[in-house]
Amino acid sequence: MGIQITPSILNADFARLGEEVARIGSADWVHVDVMDNHFVPNLTFGPAMVEALSKATDIPLDAHLMIEDADRNASAYAEAGAGSVTFHVEATQAPIRLAREIRAQGARASMALKPATPIEPYEALLPELDMLLIMTVEPGFGGQKFLDLCLPKIRTARELMRKHGVETWLQVDGGVSLETIERCAEAGADVFVAGSAVYSADDPDAMVRELKAKAEA
Ligand code: DX5
Ligand code: ZN
Repeated sequence: MGIQITPSILNADFARLGEEVARIGSADWVHVDVMDNHFVPNLTFGPAMVEALSKATDIPLDAHLMIEDADRNASAYAEAGAGSVTFHVEATQAPIRLAREIRAQGARASMALKPATPIEPYEALLPELDMLLIMTVEPGFGGQKFLDLCLPKIRTARELMRKHGVETWLQVDGGVSLETIERCAEAGADVFVAGSAVYSADDPDAMVRELKAKAEA
């Protein structure tokens, strides 16, 4: 699949989200940060917003669920039209069952790890996942500084994927910019979320293309 850029609309203008998504036509996915004010101290979108957005764009939606009780709540986002649904391993009791449910609904199943959560205990789950998300900031807000301490985990995850012979995509999210994207790509990431870097640029779509070029270099 190669390098993919998934701009986050968390830093877009919420009063005109349709237009904001139209400004990033080169994006491979639109990253939608779902927050419930419990798993993280911030509150954003629900399934109705995901459904409305999926009708407003041809770009597939990458829903990142920062919500508690993912086992009960994740399915609604696949139903709402998200092409990829990411739950946090810290918020599920049954990650294998949940990943299988999401796949059965026709979406890509993805699991996220907060910065302090190790990958090694979940190694055997990799074949169940279409994507692994390694957070490179504490989830909750856009515009935070990239945590270099997460780089070894990206490297380890890539090695484990090779060992298991899986095609799982490896996504990074948090503080990804022209300054940090090469480090992530070099460590083995292939899917890059970028929020403030894209929406604070004068030309968000040009930034998407620049980020892709940097990651591919
Ligand atoms: C943070 C979210 C991110 C956020 C990234 O909790 O999961 O997707 O929008 O924003 P930046 O790229 O500004 O760190
Ligand atoms: Zn996110």
